[in-house]
Amino acid sequence: MRLTEILKEKAKAAKRRIVLPEGDEPRTVKAAEIVRGEGIAETVLLTAESVAGDKAKLEAYADALYEIRKAKGLSREKAAELVMDPMYYGMMMVKEGDADGLVSGAVHSTGDMLRPALQVIRTAPGMKLVSSSFIMESANRAVGEDGLFVYADCVVNPCPDAEGLAHIAVAAAETARKLCGIAEPRVAMLSFSTKGSANHELVEKVRSAVEIAHGLRPDLLLDGELQFDAAVVPSVAALKAPGSKVAGRANVFVFPDLQAGNIGYKITQRLGGVECFAVLQGLAKPCNDLSRGCSVDDIVSTVAATAVQA
Ligand SMILES: CC(C)(COP(=O)(O)OP(=O)(O)OC[C@H]1O[C@@H](n2cnc3c(N)ncnc32)[C@H](O)[C@@H]1OP(=O)(O)O)[C@@H](O)C(=O)NCCC(=O)NCCS
Repeated sequence: MRLTEILKEKAKAAKRRIVLPEGDEPRTVKAAEIVRGEGIAETVLLTAESVAGDKAKLEAYADALYEIRKAKGLSREKAAELVMDPMYYGMMMVKEGDADGLVSGAVHSTGDMLRPALQVIRTAPGMKLVSSSFIMESANRAVGEDGLFVYADCVVNPCPDAEGLAHIAVAAAETARKLCGIAEPRVAMLSFSTKGSANHELVEKVRSAVEIAHGLRPDLLLDGELQFDAAVVPSVAALKAPGSKVAGRANVFVFPDLQAGNIGYKITQRLGGVECFAVLQGLAKPCNDLSRGCSVDDIVSTVAATAVQA
């Protein structure tokens, strides 16, 4: 069974309530119908009109938002204005426990969805930063873990430092395990160098990230720095990274920055014909971003994944 089908089945059992702040966007409306019809989750479609109609909730959410952001200079008046925006209203629903998760991005840009999520939902206890994993599913079962593999971070952090990169790697391994059911995540820290074949400050950052990640999670199978071919092709791994437990058999790939990650997932998707969707990791409650080019099926899958994360 494909991962999206497995997630839909798990979501049905979880019975979560997912808020969709782009409630008058046609693909979102259609996806919500499917989600409800198949019993994947309960959905709440928000529009500017529906939000404006609930005065009591608006007051309560404005108070709560003001409390969360007043130290950052947000006034009560501005909080009241912000919660009229379905995106902030939806975030407040999740924050206050009136919904279990949020899916948005068919209309809004990634930054427009991420900023309120970072400000309101914030990072989960013990997490240093929010990042993303792209769940990649190939029809070729010989690659990754039976066709499944994870790319990180392709959405959030433009230029993570070594510590940030280490935290992204640990979070991606957990997403692989918990959401994709990959029992043994094997994490490749990608670079244009393999085990010292090149020297540059960019390579040095990846090497430092490997050391930090080993300190954070000594139990994790994680290695680097590795070129992509050394990470996935056993014969290249034997040549360039002999003895590595990850090289040649990686199923989680951590890119050194957002340019590499975002370009990498799109090449895999568009030239490799690989299906994919993204989830955010490290938030205190699940909120997920869609691509503006998303299909109705993409929205349904992302709602299912969000319900499972919740
Ligand atoms: C994530 C992003 C929206 C943050 O925006 P920003 O303008 O840097 O926002 P700020 O620096 O004002 O941060 C807003 C808040 O989020 C926090 N924050 C920023 N990045 C964070 C991260 N990765 N994890 C946790 N918190 C983060 C900041 O600390 C700040 O908190 P505060 O207001 O309580 O002090 C920005 O990095 C971004 O646009 N990333 C790229 C997104 C994108 O376009 N992706 C395209 C690929 S699809």
